[in-house]
Amino acid sequence: FIQVATNVTEQKHHVSRAKRGQILGHLRGFRGCTVWFTGLSGAGKTSVAFELEAYLVTHGIPSYCLDGDNMRTGLNKDLGFSKEDREENIRRVAEVARLFADAGQICLCSFVSPFTEDRELARRIHRDNDLPFFEVFVDTPLEVCETRDIKGLYKKARLGTIKGFTGIDQPYEKPEHPELVLKTINASVEQSMMQVIEMLRENGIIP
Ligand code: PPS
Ligand code: MG
Repeated sequence: FIQVATNVTEQKHHVSRAKRGQILGHLRGFRGCTVWFTGLSGAGKTSVAFELEAYLVTHGIPSYCLDGDNMRTGLNKDLGFSKEDREENIRRVAEVARLFADAGQICLCSFVSPFTEDRELARRIHRDNDLPFFEVFVDTPLEVCETRDIKGLYKKARLGTIKGFTGIDQPYEKPEHPELVLKTINASVEQSMMQVIEMLRENGIIP
């Protein structure tokens, strides 16, 4: 059964978003938001997100990347890759991203996040808190990810040593209305990153 927190009430901060924005630097006020990268293992989520994080921080814009591999060695080390565990993984991460964004950071999330309903929950958690949320589909075909096989995981999945691998014996539900689609086949990591930068500019998040 599921335990539910009872007798808890929301406690209001004394610091407004406008005030946080002033401290961290801003374009037209507060710019906290979340950029959510989704795609198959090996699609390039981590590469683009980390490149973007470095670019933003270098330009004096506070940003922090939450990455699947990293979150799963800390906060989420009790979770595996069943549909239920992935759902809980994404729920927790979305809540953490919401806090980062509320604190004024450009929070980057790089997770396979293969299920539409989990990504929609992440979106809702942000929308309910008036925080901009940008879903970026890193659209690299399975064949290409499998050929790259940087971590050797596809090989193991094909051999059956890894069960429930996304794209092999678990589904990947493509986003239907992402804010941005990155085709990585003929693009460098930097070119893909610049597309995200452009999206953030168009939305008034960065100058
Ligand atoms: S999820 O679906 O969003 O909960 O997954 P995520 O937290 O992003 O973790 C994905 C990384 O874990 C490794 N890995 C797997 N991925 C997919 N399916 C299975 N079964 C699996 N087992 C391990 C893999 O390194 C993923 O990282 P990326 O960067 O996507 O390759
Ligand atoms: Mg990765």
